[in-house]
Amino acid sequence: MIFLNTLTLENADKLLSSAFTTNDDFEYTYTSYSEEDTKKLGRKFANYLNKGDIITLNGELGSGKTVFLNGIASFFGVENDVCSPTFTIVNEYNISKDFPIYHFDVYRIKNSDEFLEGVGTDYFYNGICLIEWGDEIISDILPKNTIHIDIIKDEEDKQKRIFKIWRKI
Ligand SMILES: Nc1ncnc2c1ncn2[C@@H]1O[C@H](COP(=O)(O)OP(=O)(O)OP(=O)(O)O)[C@@H](O)[C@H]1O
Ligand SMILES: [Mg+2]
Repeated sequence: MIFLNTLTLENADKLLSSAFTTNDDFEYTYTSYSEEDTKKLGRKFANYLNKGDIITLNGELGSGKTVFLNGIASFFGVENDVCSPTFTIVNEYNISKDFPIYHFDVYRIKNSDEFLEGVGTDYFYNGICLIEWGDEIISDILPKNTIHIDIIKDEEDKQKRIFKIWRKI
């Protein structure tokens, strides 16, 4: 069954808990009108994350991938803003006692072969992986249960973003 739904801050708990507890396909759409809206969605989303979850964030430069991840980090109590690990490829945050959070930015990696050689997939099983540019660069090696977040900028409203959150098993 495919769940196709509009996600709001009010219904987010209901929709996300069903997405994270089942193995079904789903596609949710969320509209953000500000940086704060995006962080709030990140905080809601973070509550459901567990070891072994892989999330890709896809969208053009400045679309809000890192802002969303800052929302996730603030849920886990990270005080300072996180930055994209563009040059280091991966940052590790030991903010939960049960598992690390790995923040990847694979923008500067050529393809999945280069990722496998230089980084490897051990991270996928050891913690939570949040991967900026994941679908563009390494989609062929992502596990099936990966949750994808596509962020689309509005052409007129500079503050507006459409988030498409989906999984296709
Ligand atoms: N609704 C919104 N959600 C998120 N960010 C917004 C929104 N409206 C405006 N912004 C601005 O857009 C920028 C998003 O920057 P961010 O670093 O998160 O992008 P990014 O997708 O990670 O880019 P990059 O690919 O360069 O890493 C910020 O400057 C933020 O203030
Ligand atoms: Mg970024």
